Amino acid sequence: MSYETILLEERGAVALITLNRPKALNALNKQLMDELTDAIRRIEANDAIGCTVITGSEKAFAAGADIKEMQSKTYADVMMEDFITANWEEVSRTRKPVIAAVAGYALGGGCELAMMCDFILAGDNARFGQPEIQLGVIPGSGGSQRLTRFVGKSKAMEMCMTGRMMDAEEAERAGLVSRIIPTEDLVEEAMSVAAKIAELSRPALFVLKESVNRAYEVPMAEGIRFERRVFHSLFAFDDQTEGMEAFIEKRTPQFKNK
Ligand code: CAA
Repeated sequence: MSYETILLEERGAVALITLNRPKALNALNKQLMDELTDAIRRIEANDAIGCTVITGSEKAFAAGADIKEMQSKTYADVMMEDFITANWEEVSRTRKPVIAAVAGYALGGGCELAMMCDFILAGDNARFGQPEIQLGVIPGSGGSQRLTRFVGKSKAMEMCMTGRMMDAEEAERAGLVSRIIPTEDLVEEAMSVAAKIAELSRPALFVLKESVNRAYEVPMAEGIRFERRVFHSLFAFDDQTEGMEAFIEKRTPQFKNK
């Protein structure tokens, strides 16, 4: 598949996906979500890539689902085409780490897409919001669930009920983003973090990601039991021996993902 609404670049072991519908502030239409799904699957199948960065433009990460495309849909349309589920969820399914580098607007589906990533680095001009209520609907791509887990009920409810946007500082205070970076340095910083992650043991990263995500899904005791089991499983990999040997020998580990 060739892409028209995203750009896909490989830099060393890192893939950079740039959402690229600038005239529509990267509104997420079917074509873009199909292309993004395809790109994530290609990256997952490409052994040379260890981490992905998803970004937009300085003005907008993404201003939400494409309202012009959605406006005329009926219940039968959205139900029968399995709108959202069919092509929006690959980012939350991929096993490889994904970083969202968010500058400008991340609204509605844009905020939800960022929250599907493993963590969010925010440019200092980032604005996050779930304005769907102003369109007579509610978040449809996990926003009412993920935002509530990130920032707590009161702030999630206020944001979803009013459509108010959070700036980067509020988003960092609330735990939605891991760090704020000057917007002009955002993508380079995200690529550099991704390059470091891409050098680590991939099996360890896979189970790490699964383990942290478990914390959102199961009670604490279950999650800790899961963590213990997958922690034990990593002792079956050469990477565990190499990582610990390298520490003792005061050298950089050479992980082989085995
Ligand atoms: N869908 C379709 N087109 C969009 C869009 C969207 N979500 N957001 C912006 N655009 C388009 C505008 O229609 C405009 O196109 P034209 O030049 O053809 O008129 C262009 O992008 C530029 O936008 P604005 O002129 O509005 O730019 P602005 O700087 O004045 O405002 C903004 C920026 C505050 C982000 C404003 O564009 C806005 O409010 N956008 C809609 C945000 C929104 O409601 N998102 C939620 C969508 S629903 C959803 O996401 C459902 C879900 O949970 C899956």
